[in-house]
Amino acid sequence: MTGRPIISIAGVRLSFGGVAALDGVDLEVPEGQIVGIIGPNGAGKTTLFDCISGFRRPDSGSITLHGSPQGDVELTSRAPYERTALGIGRTFQNARLFKSMPIRDILRAVQHDRMKRSGFFRSVLGLGGSVLDEQEVTDRADEVLELVGLSAHGDKPAMELSTGMLRLCELAAVVAVRPRLLLLDEPSSGIAQKETEALGPLLRRLAEYLNATLLMIEHDMPLIMGISDTMIAMAGGRVITVGPPAEVREHPEVLTSYLGAKATA
Ligand SMILES: Nc1ncnc2c1ncn2[C@@H]1O[C@H](COP(=O)(O)OP(=O)(O)OP(=O)(O)O)[C@@H](O)[C@H]1O
Ligand SMILES: [Mg+2]
Repeated sequence: MTGRPIISIAGVRLSFGGVAALDGVDLEVPEGQIVGIIGPNGAGKTTLFDCISGFRRPDSGSITLHGSPQGDVELTSRAPYERTALGIGRTFQNARLFKSMPIRDILRAVQHDRMKRSGFFRSVLGLGGSVLDEQEVTDRADEVLELVGLSAHGDKPAMELSTGMLRLCELAAVVAVRPRLLLLDEPSSGIAQKETEALGPLLRRLAEYLNATLLMIEHDMPLIMGISDTMIAMAGGRVITVGPPAEVREHPEVLTSYLGAKATA
């Protein structure tokens, strides 16, 4: 842990129609940590990820990535592929995998795809390496399959995997492109309870393997409490509190917003 932020978010606002999904978010994400985001449904968590990854553009505010080969980079005007080239990786709610392709080939394809999309930008940035070595691509696919525990299934098409395995494959796909900031939106969704218990240690291993900062939205409290170094609580499009998990959980507004959310669920 270096104590310095990998990303700084300042005054970010985004409204859909009249609804403020993000209502002035200020946040610094510490580099090298596992950082958990909690909050009731509609708090703006996914929208915040959309703004970081470039899927959506905030109405106002800034999002600055630190420590890139270009130094500090203001992200809001950058295209998603540029952010990928700068080392930001994310998973989506539904795995967008080629269902008939063996999963080892999917993990090879994502590496080529990312390089192809970001090749021009990488050369502008002076990151080099716009051609991938086939052996390295295959080795990395195998390495990542092993990390997520899918080595025995590398030859199977995605459609033959269980939902839980598909989620693991989706994780493997984002890890294979080696982000330095990994955004995970509810990694436990679609995974059975007993598999969720193994997910915490797995996410830790992945963060260590990548030497990455992991920013993760999760509703499963034991999971997120167990692995987060720092936790962020959001509600109503704002950050309520940031701190060690045990303190954040006991924050009065966190207790209220969770109880409120449960009462209407
Ligand atoms: N495409 C959209 N069009 C209109 N409103 C949207 C859109 N996406 C999100 N919203 C609204 O923005 C707010 C924040 O939504 P967001 O999906 O970011 O919440 P969340 O914290 O991820 O919730 P959940 O825990 O349910 O995933 C909600 O009020 C939601 O209804
Ligand atoms: Mg969400």
